Amino acid sequence: MRAAAPPYPVTVRMPFSEEDLAMTFPTTPVSPVAPLLAELCRIAGLPFERSETLPPEAYIAPEFHAWEVKQIFHRDWLCVARADQVAEPGAYLRLDDLPDRPLVLTRDEDGVLHALSRVCRHRFMDVLPPETTAEQGRLERLVCPYHTWTYRLNGEFAGRLAGAPLMRAPGFDRAACRLPDHRLEEWNGFVMLSLDPAAPPLAPELSGLDAALAGYGLTGWETACTLRWNGVPANWKVALENACENYHHLGTHATTLEPVLPARATRVDDCDGRWFTTFTPASPAGPDGHGPLSAPFPPPPGLSPEQLSGMTVAGIFPNCLLALLPGNVVWGSWWPTGPVTHDAVFRVLVPPGTSRHRDMPGHLEAIRALLSRVQEEDLVAIRGVQRGLSAAPGPPAGRLSHLERPLWQFQRYLSARPGGRHQRSR
Ligand code: FES
Ligand SMILES: [Fe+2]
Repeated sequence: MRAAAPPYPVTVRMPFSEEDLAMTFPTTPVSPVAPLLAELCRIAGLPFERSETLPPEAYIAPEFHAWEVKQIFHRDWLCVARADQVAEPGAYLRLDDLPDRPLVLTRDEDGVLHALSRVCRHRFMDVLPPETTAEQGRLERLVCPYHTWTYRLNGEFAGRLAGAPLMRAPGFDRAACRLPDHRLEEWNGFVMLSLDPAAPPLAPELSGLDAALAGYGLTGWETACTLRWNGVPANWKVALENACENYHHLGTHATTLEPVLPARATRVDDCDGRWFTTFTPASPAGPDGHGPLSAPFPPPPGLSPEQLSGMTVAGIFPNCLLALLPGNVVWGSWWPTGPVTHDAVFRVLVPPGTSRHRDMPGHLEAIRALLSRVQEEDLVAIRGVQRGLSAAPGPPAGRLSHLERPLWQFQRYLSARPGGRHQRSR
């Protein structure tokens, strides 16, 4: 039973401090994610030598998932496509991976890219439903298949309503019916998107990575194939963190990657901020004679001796990872579909001018086969870690090895999002 309200105004006099007052009589309800964010900030503030894992709740709790979607996936810069996937004016590519934000990437007649919402301004229909339309193709206009409202795709008018048949509603405001056109930046041929109109530009944050990867000349690389694993039963961060370190080659990939890309030879560069790099020297050939450095065409001319001799891994938080070899680049991304599920997408890129090489089909088949096998091995670890995180009672934190520095860096990235309080030390 609720206590009756006192028949007089409640007044509080000093010596309570303002902080005491705020705690005793909060004017806004305390967010259920606040204790987790506080713990995230504590962990992210540890020096790397003392770093530890995030608490299990960060991989399970619906409220933490909701915070990530709001503050990261609906605000920060995300790597969503390669520019060559929408190479020509009139091309489109459906983007289905952002949580709760169906989008389409289009290239207008002037060659400018647009990222438009696919939610029709009439009655919310997906204007390019996956059930009836191809993932990519060509379009002159966007026609909603429900009642045929039509949207323009050209230049400054992209997203504007061009036609709404039989609409005679008094006061109907056509100009207000515009599909939002979101911010894009192109970085080395990758299309980066932010849903936040006020997000600071991305390019300055990546200038150091530009220099590190300049030899690859990534802008001209071509997208050769895509592999997807939808509905993986694990939090997206489990998969991302797995991909950020080669330490697990020792166990997970003991017979596949470890013999040719050994964990103990990996160098983890001393990075902070949004991106990181690592390098692992490669054996020229594996047990079957086909190694990570094998390719039926010469390597890109700008590669350094080191880049010619092994695998560079470059990560861009929150969820973009590149594994760079002289003959191919695998671009991985992991997209949350719930607190404990995600979709994993891998795209294979090949150097400029090589996609029509006569031996490319065999080269790609070898890459696909290895990638599939490695991902199946990774999925055992990813699902197993998620089971461990969900075990009751919650296990205590684990410590990180020197090869897991990118995980500590990722914690610092997370804690620097809005709502976190950690300030970078540099
Ligand atoms: S919902 Fe798109 S035209 Fe009606
Ligand atoms: Fe792996």
